[in-house]
Amino acid sequence: MTHVPSPNFADLDWWRRSVVYQVYPRSFHDGNGDGTGDLLGMSHALGYLASLGVDAVWVSPWYPSPMADGGYDVSDYCDIDPRYGTLDDAALFVNEAHGLGLRVFIDLVPNHASSAHPLFQAALAAAPGSPEREMFIFRDGKGDDGDVPPTNWGALFGGSAWERVVEADGTPGQWYCHMFAPEQPDWNWENPAVVELFDGIVRFWLDRGIDGIRIDVADSMAKNQNFPDTPTDPKTGYGTTAKFQGHPYWDQPGVEQIHRRWRAIADSYAGSRLGSRIFVSEAHMSPAERLVRYVAPGRLHTTFNFDHLWCEWSGPSQRAMIDTILRVHADVDAPATWVIGNHDTTRVVTRYGKPETGWRFVADGVHPDDALKFAEYFAPLPTDVALGRRRARAAALLEFALPGVAYIYQGEELGLPEVEDLPVESLQDPTWERSGHTIRGRDGCRVPLPWSGERPPYGFGPGNEQPWLPQPADWADLTIAAQTGVPGSHLELYRAALAERHRNPALGDGTLTWDDSAPEVLSFTREPGFRCIVNYGDEVVPIPGNNRLILASSDVSAGIPRDTAVWLSV
Ligand code: BGC
Repeated sequence: MTHVPSPNFADLDWWRRSVVYQVYPRSFHDGNGDGTGDLLGMSHALGYLASLGVDAVWVSPWYPSPMADGGYDVSDYCDIDPRYGTLDDAALFVNEAHGLGLRVFIDLVPNHASSAHPLFQAALAAAPGSPEREMFIFRDGKGDDGDVPPTNWGALFGGSAWERVVEADGTPGQWYCHMFAPEQPDWNWENPAVVELFDGIVRFWLDRGIDGIRIDVADSMAKNQNFPDTPTDPKTGYGTTAKFQGHPYWDQPGVEQIHRRWRAIADSYAGSRLGSRIFVSEAHMSPAERLVRYVAPGRLHTTFNFDHLWCEWSGPSQRAMIDTILRVHADVDAPATWVIGNHDTTRVVTRYGKPETGWRFVADGVHPDDALKFAEYFAPLPTDVALGRRRARAAALLEFALPGVAYIYQGEELGLPEVEDLPVESLQDPTWERSGHTIRGRDGCRVPLPWSGERPPYGFGPGNEQPWLPQPADWADLTIAAQTGVPGSHLELYRAALAERHRNPALGDGTLTWDDSAPEVLSFTREPGFRCIVNYGDEVVPIPGNNRLILASSDVSAGIPRDTAVWLSV
């Protein structure tokens, strides 16, 4: 593969201020017209992403997968799912992205494989105690017949975290551990062969010019080898998945060694033409002091701040959250990573349009233990989409003004709402089945993007094939084509903000200074000469004299009204 790095690739600190756009490949753009997004479609869309003004593209898993969990069940870590294309298509995509000055991130899923992975199939075929079984976490069951799972651990998608297998002689046998769906068996990270396997996978992709790697559930690989039970969750009857300190499968000391090992591999590429290769950790964890251990020197580069995503839309909560995140990151000299949406969470427009917009964790210490509970909590609440969209616009200006790295989940720039009424027969998230049809899961934020036209499939693909998840009938005004060049559209607000972020030396990495303001108002400056004000309260806030307006999320002709953000030149 030949790379054509643009000149800014010489900047070793690029990752400290990037804006990263998340592509969920199944739902982004369909190049061959079969109703599923693919690499051809992604390549066609690179011009769009470059014109949006992002610096990097993170592609959610693109590997061969039976799609029991939308690709987070990987059956071959060094290939591309045939529905998306081939390794050559991926190489072309990376090359073209680099040619446009865009970095490319992939998603590494190290906690679990797909049950279709050849090594898991070999483990099933082999005997208890064999080297094949040692690649995964097999244990004998409890009780006289071994028919009680080895621990009471609960799986995140519902039910027990253990599945019993049938041995070669047809008798009920051992159990294997799966923290997610039964189709996602957990690797045994105590086994050096697993460690080496993943060293090779990381190198495989870095050799192919990948600039960044998102680590899926980066806090999960190591398990307490005593396999203790956890307190029982009264709702499910299984062991709780809530991440208390010392939980046997979250944030065990062993994950640090794994991170440091990968960091050393990535650092060994620093002298290459593309410069620094980086990691972003996905770990839902609180408090923030605990989270930033993951980005301590020599460990990973960045870690998603889900406190941002979960924070309710109110001045005092947002300010407390921002303060904490900036303080704890400064302590370890890592840039903060801001995120208001992803493929696991109710879309921001819908979330901010609910009577409850987040978790009052800052105020009262409550914290959700995973994204699924988040969706389950929000789904029944009514939504005011117009209000949510207004707040989402303000939230975007706030996010891009904060020091550090910003993520955009595909469709966020279009102001897409969550699709909360998908027909149940279309639902694919494993949670739907595993919860006995009580939790719809995350499909509502994964509906394929509307590109153009008046009705589904809205130019998602070249023909009229309907996409793998149905799109709403009322998205014609939300398509990329409908919003392009329209002053004040959600998309043009994003474009203008990202262009300014590139132009303005005050934005990106660095620090901020708070101005005095009422609790329902956030006002801060960044040097040189930049101010951001967000009004969460009822009282209109005047634009300070001698400040020049750069951008506003709503009409500010009579001052800054409720749920509005402005960027000012001081
Ligand atoms: C991903 C999810 C996935 C889970 C298991 C995550 O946190 O973002 O989409 O279901 O890991 O791989």
